[in-house]
Amino acid sequence: MTVEAVDLVRRHRQGDVVVPALRGVSLTVAGGELVAVVGPSGSGKSTLLHLLAGVDVPDAGRVVVAGAALHALSEDARAAIRRRTIGLVFQACNLVPLLTALENVALPLLLDGEPPRRARARALAALAAVGLAERAARTPDRLSGGEAQRVAVARALVADPPLVLADEPTGSLDAKSAEGVLTLLRDATAGGTAIVLVTHDPRAAARADRVIRLVDGRIAAELGEDACARAAS
Ligand SMILES: Nc1ncnc2c1ncn2[C@@H]1O[C@H](COP(=O)(O)OP(=O)(O)OP(=O)(O)O)[C@@H](O)[C@H]1O
Ligand SMILES: [Mg+2]
Repeated sequence: MTVEAVDLVRRHRQGDVVVPALRGVSLTVAGGELVAVVGPSGSGKSTLLHLLAGVDVPDAGRVVVAGAALHALSEDARAAIRRRTIGLVFQACNLVPLLTALENVALPLLLDGEPPRRARARALAALAAVGLAERAARTPDRLSGGEAQRVAVARALVADPPLVLADEPTGSLDAKSAEGVLTLLRDATAGGTAIVLVTHDPRAAARADRVIRLVDGRIAAELGEDACARAAS
């Protein structure tokens, strides 16, 4: 599935102050591609991801997911597209506090009408894939930051969505766990999933097909595969 961003402009308002977070960003990510978005803090990376996910809407420009222009849809229709086609990992904590790790991961499946038994089995397999089967019964307050991050990755991948949008999914992981998460993401692209990965992590950028660098809300550079490896080394 392809996701396309065309001339995205987003200004955040804080009282009388207007912060230009994105100043005209265009980007196309095709099925099977893993694109990393890098750039300094405040450069607009999370804002871009929120627009691609349709949890925020642009002031100008458009996002087209699987042929549908998100801004032209109702909030309900956008939520339905998110539920069915997008696996999302937010930068700040993601998990529902009152649910166990297993219940958090099973949630997208249950919301989509999967029978509870099957949803639990698939959720457990997804947790095992991030190395956390033995944490299934814990609520998020009893997980480490890195564990919670991996549970969020398991939840984003559990339904095999055609588009995965992940904001710093390896930020608080040790090398081995980060490698595991990156391998899972790469494996998903082999099955045709399109992935946008916001990251400060050179290991993650090195695994991408392309690296987009944002500076001050604009694309400052786009690096191909060879350059990705060099930039990360
Ligand atoms: N809800 C908001 N209200 C006001 N300003 C915001 C809001 N969200 C983001 N901003 C501002 O927009 C700009 C871009 O923020 P964004 O979160 O997209 O950056 P980022 O590249 O993800 O940074 P980081 O690497 O620190 O996560 C920043 O100047 C930020 O302060
Ligand atoms: Mg951010």
